[in-house]
Amino acid sequence: MTGKAPQVEPINASAEGEQIWLNVIGKMEETWGQLIGQQVELERKNAALEEAHAFMASVFESMSDVLIACDTALRIVRTNTAAEKLFAPAGQSIVGVRLEDLIASASGISAMDVARCMSRRQGLEDAEFQFSTSSGALPFAVNGTLLYDRRKRLCGIVLLGRPLGEVRRAYSELDQAHRHLKAAHVQLVQAEKMASLGRLVAGVAHELNNPISFVYGNAYTLKRFIPRLIAYLEHIHAQPAASLFAHERQTLRVDMVTSELGSTLDGIVEGAERVRDIVADLRRFSSDKRSAGAVFDMAAVVRKGLEWVLASADRMVETRVDVEEPLEVEGHAGRMQQVVMNLVQNALDAMEDIQHPVLCVTAKRDDTRVHIQIADNGSGIPPDVASHIFDPFFTTKPVGKGTGLGLAICYGTVSEHGGRLTARNGAQGGAVVMFDLPAFAPDGACAVLPEKG
Ligand SMILES: Nc1ncnc2c1ncn2[C@@H]1O[C@H](COP(=O)(O)OP(=O)(O)OP(=O)(O)O)[C@@H](O)[C@H]1O
Ligand SMILES: [Mg+2]
Repeated sequence: MTGKAPQVEPINASAEGEQIWLNVIGKMEETWGQLIGQQVELERKNAALEEAHAFMASVFESMSDVLIACDTALRIVRTNTAAEKLFAPAGQSIVGVRLEDLIASASGISAMDVARCMSRRQGLEDAEFQFSTSSGALPFAVNGTLLYDRRKRLCGIVLLGRPLGEVRRAYSELDQAHRHLKAAHVQLVQAEKMASLGRLVAGVAHELNNPISFVYGNAYTLKRFIPRLIAYLEHIHAQPAASLFAHERQTLRVDMVTSELGSTLDGIVEGAERVRDIVADLRRFSSDKRSAGAVFDMAAVVRKGLEWVLASADRMVETRVDVEEPLEVEGHAGRMQQVVMNLVQNALDAMEDIQHPVLCVTAKRDDTRVHIQIADNGSGIPPDVASHIFDPFFTTKPVGKGTGLGLAICYGTVSEHGGRLTARNGAQGGAVVMFDLPAFAPDGACAVLPEKG
């Protein structure tokens, strides 16, 4: 038995060992195959990850909005190209910088506010930040989203900011264009209204001019004749034969008639004078006569016009005058003085019931224009009459006090001189009436009134 066993055993042992080796090799091959498979899978996942990474990077690059990711200490951990360009145009990175260093001191929202939002687990929605950028403080509308890690612990915040400057600029340009358009529309309507009224008034003034000249001229002649007539009657009454006509003298009340003749005629002359002045005003309002003017100092005209009106005022008015000198313009000094006088008179009229009337007159120039302003602390212009004050014959004054032609004439005169007359109520009450004129430029850049064509 002992002799046999050694012969059989090695055979069985080697077969068994071989089998084991075969199993091991089989397992190794299997593991190797699995390893290769895992390697291939890993490489595929790696390629997909790289692709996703590249995609995300290109999304970040192409975003025009500014992206800033911060950790819980509000230190910047990641940004996009738009943010780097904005905050560090020289190419440095702002990663590691504290968020508060990017926020301008004038910003409505501070880094502290962002920290508070994070502690309350709140994001930000359209919050208006002022970031300090390389071009100064700029406004941004910022949305902020909280960041959490895999274990749902807060790990930071992502801020996405959209520059407001462009939108605001576009909006304000649009708004300005709209306002200019509205003003141009009002001006056009006003100019057209004035032109048609001017034609109408010119016709009426022309028709009235001749008859009123007759009345005025004949009334004056009659006034010269009356003393002679009275002297003659007195001479007759002094004769002895006059007693023969005493009855007629009494019943016809000849003495009363002769004594009243003078004052009756004075009334006619005064009325005729007023109508003549109105007709002259009408002609001035409707005149489209444009003639070459001369260069004159508007500052002196303003002072003189003011002085003349105040000299004839029947009460004390506190006057604050701020007039730059000289203020050279081109045109008709006399007509401009009339404008100033009309405006000052209107202001005095409006302050009639004011206990302490204050009149402020300023005249200044900027690069190209001279600006004159007359402000009072009177009744102001009621909103319902504001759109009519430049209309001829519009007046709120009692009959006999105003014709309503003052502002209409002023408007025409200022327009003819290349300016614009406007009126508004002052912030502290009262009215502010202002006009501008082209400043005279010696090189001829000033708008010279065209010759009558
Ligand atoms: N400074 C002012 N404050 C308040 N209302 C004013 C002022 N200036 C003008 N107005 C208003 O505008 C109206 C028109 O003024 P405008 O000068 O044309 O005529 P007027 O002063 O009434 O008469 P006129 O000037 O012909 O004697 C005035 O009646 C008044 O109601
Ligand atoms: Mg007036």
